[in-house]
Amino acid sequence: MKRVLLSVVLGLGVAAPAFADLALATSKNCMSCHAVERKVLGPSFKDVAAKYKDDKGAVDTLASKIMKGGSGVWGPVPMPANNQVSEADAKKLAAWVLSTK
Ligand code: HEC
Repeated sequence: MKRVLLSVVLGLGVAAPAFADLALATSKNCMSCHAVERKVLGPSFKDVAAKYKDDKGAVDTLASKIMKGGSGVWGPVPMPANNQVSEADAKKLAAWVLSTK
């Protein structure tokens, strides 16, 4: 069943990786506080991508914040830890966020 779904996703062509990572972010609850294009409770992922575009260590920094939470960078509201996210998924999500600019 999973394989069928995967080939459907791959069938979409170039848009597939971004689509798959949006699905991952949605399944990990990220999109209840974030959107790609606009600020919700947390910053838009485009703004995050723009802020860290010259930071080579950003994938690791952001992956760690995604897992452990963070505060004081974007405003008064902190991001709670996302314990449901594995390190591998956190890196995937960080790389995707940085690719949204
Ligand atoms: C309960 C709401 C909430 C959830 C759920 C949430 N975030 Fe956040 N996120 C925030 C807030 C608020 C900030 C801003 C924190 C700050 O100012 O440092 C933030 C900041 C971030 C940042 C920027 C960190 C920085 O230091 O610049 C990234 C990247 C991010 N979130 C990704 C994610 C991902 C990926 C998920 C899903 C696993 C997620 N967030 C889930 C609220 C949330």
